[in-house]
Amino acid sequence: MSYIKLATRKDFEHTRIRSFAVMGKKIGIIKRDDGSFYAMDVGCKHQNADITKGTIEGNVATCPRHQWQYDLETGECLNHDSLPLKRFPLKIEGEDIKVAVLPVNNIFD
Ligand code: FES
Repeated sequence: MSYIKLATRKDFEHTRIRSFAVMGKKIGIIKRDDGSFYAMDVGCKHQNADITKGTIEGNVATCPRHQWQYDLETGECLNHDSLPLKRFPLKIEGEDIKVAVLPVNNIFD
């Protein structure tokens, strides 16, 4: 599995969420209260808007376009019948935060 560097720990000193466009995907890196990180698809399941550009209250992100809501920990869509947002493998190497862009539950894993 190949990982690419998307950010450093320092990028999260003043924010807990950042999103990146990688190979046509919108990938969010999210920092938990305990300092750990995870990576998640943040392209809305409706029309692929970046849900991190909408409203975030606690762990609920509301898409800026048509207000679909997602649980940022589980990826579950909270107000529509939809597949959940997928996680991506993430690893920390020193200060670098690296993500593998194939989803964790990819059929080839
Ligand atoms: S694109 Fe997100 S709700 Fe429509």
